[in-house]
Amino acid sequence: MDERLVSSEADNHESAIEQSLRPQSLVQYIGQKKVKENLRVFIDAAKMREETLDHVLLYGPPGLGKTTLASIVANEMGVEMRTTSGPAIERPGDLAAILTALEPGDVLFIDEIHRLHRSIEEVLYPAMEDFCLDIVIGKGPSARSVRLDLPPFTLVGATTRVGLLTAPLRDRFGVLSRLEYYTQEELSDIVVRTADLFEVEIDKPSALEIARRSRGTPRVANRLLRRVRDFAQVLGDSRITDDIAQDALERLQVDRLGLDHIDHKLLMGMIEKYSGGPVGLDTISATIGEEPHTIEDVYEPYLLQIGFLQRTPRGRIVTPAVYHHFNMEAPRHD
Ligand code: ADE
Repeated sequence: MDERLVSSEADNHESAIEQSLRPQSLVQYIGQKKVKENLRVFIDAAKMREETLDHVLLYGPPGLGKTTLASIVANEMGVEMRTTSGPAIERPGDLAAILTALEPGDVLFIDEIHRLHRSIEEVLYPAMEDFCLDIVIGKGPSARSVRLDLPPFTLVGATTRVGLLTAPLRDRFGVLSRLEYYTQEELSDIVVRTADLFEVEIDKPSALEIARRSRGTPRVANRLLRRVRDFAQVLGDSRITDDIAQDALERLQVDRLGLDHIDHKLLMGMIEKYSGGPVGLDTISATIGEEPHTIEDVYEPYLLQIGFLQRTPRGRIVTPAVYHHFNMEAPRHD
């Protein structure tokens, strides 16, 4: 089969590191208590009945552990996981090739499932519902449709934009789980766990400092930890202490709320050019030179979560908290 369609291994360095750090079971997985508790029940029930697990949709901002949870689902069910993504599947035949290669019970993980083409979604419906494929053979008046049985499988879909899923696709998932931003304590536990895997010494205040600046996101926490570890190794004695962590995070230009230079550019751009808004997404995009969907998927969710941005029908506005954060005086709207 075409190697671009499915992969069971990491295809770049960062995700290779991420994979090696990944918890393998629900017990090892920190945070997302409700999602975990529910999955535990659904997995145990499916195993008791010797059935495949119902299809699962995981949604929420990037970096919160959707891929990790999908692989845990496969591990816990004792099956293999095949990984692909919405944009990688270009033709219905691509999806048919993936589906027919599955073993009974396998997990098929489709990342960015909201980017699946409509014509491909239609192939997915009977596959999800009845484990079969309707294939059209031939063209024109002699074309006929044949039905192909598939092994039962569990589709785990992941998306940052659940609102973009069509209703028929969304309705075919039996389990819908929303991932939330992590608390500082959870992120601090994740940092300590990862440092342990790296065999790096870290004290509690440093772990908390990294956690505070990780915008609620394990992927960010682990990335900051790797960079802080570099500073500790080169500028210190390899141990991560509070002063090393503070200094490193300062040098990395990650402020005390975890905002980086792009967040700053976005917020300051809105303040300086548009008096804090309302301003439309495309205008913000043109002002700071970032793609609208990157702003919407990556930057905005956290800024909305911490109350720095608001969405109004007339566009985005910055809140007084932003002026406070930048030590600026908020304009008065009389
Ligand atoms: N590494 C990244 N995310 C994690 C999580 N939720 N639990 C444990 N380790 C992790």
